[in-house]
Amino acid sequence: MRWGVVGAETPAMTIDNGGRRGSGMWARIEAWIYDPFLALGERRGMASRRRALLALARGRVLELGAGTGLNLAHYPAGMGELVLTEPDSAMCARLARRVGRSGRDATVVAARAEALPFRDGAFDTVVSTLVLCTVEDPAAAVREVRRVLAPGGRLLFVEHVRASAPRLARWQDRLARPWRALAGGCRCNQATLELLERGQLRVERVASGRWGGMPALVRPLVVGHAGATGPQS
Ligand SMILES: C[S@@+](CC[C@H](N)C(=O)[O-])C[C@H]1O[C@@H](n2cnc3c(N)ncnc32)[C@H](O)[C@@H]1O
Repeated sequence: MRWGVVGAETPAMTIDNGGRRGSGMWARIEAWIYDPFLALGERRGMASRRRALLALARGRVLELGAGTGLNLAHYPAGMGELVLTEPDSAMCARLARRVGRSGRDATVVAARAEALPFRDGAFDTVVSTLVLCTVEDPAAAVREVRRVLAPGGRLLFVEHVRASAPRLARWQDRLARPWRALAGGCRCNQATLELLERGQLRVERVASGRWGGMPALVRPLVVGHAGATGPQS
């Protein structure tokens, strides 16, 4: 077993989410309640979605915003190198502990998705689960994903998105600000597929779903994969 934390600052390196700079204490509370808050949703389908999606991971794999490491158990055996990035130090500490307990080879790197400390084309697979809604500058994050993907590489994603049903979409718009303040900077009304396409990632396969066991605002899901289009910048 080998693991390491590269670039993590302790105590609590906090990130600015939507104008709210979390205190070290608040960041630690968010990290502490994260797994219990998601537990019902994991049991009601999210864990199996993670497993099915991550079965597609190939070669050198980079995960964005890995949080507490809920994906870790679902990566297939025999996969290539795994690099887990996470900018929040309270999350990072939990992630590193989970990696240590898992017996898996993985490197934990403290990094934001908007500024990935890796060379162009370094990864065959990039994984984003429930992350693009939270990163401060999602367009910059998508550009970075495209940059670090090797030719023929793929982004695997599960993201909650803006509802296609107009009534729920209106509620997402109305409650976007309080939700964002409560939920660690999460934008419940983000149209993430459009964001990927604008960032020159071609969505190759996508399924819609419903995140059971979670508040209605974040229930609409997209699950799929995308590859790079256009010339590599
Ligand atoms: C809803 S959690 C998802 C965690 C994990 N991916 C999962 O599937 O359970 C969102 C994660 O994105 C991280 N995050 C926030 N801003 C980020 C950024 N700019 N770049 C990368 N990750 C970020 C948060 O710290 C948090 O761990």
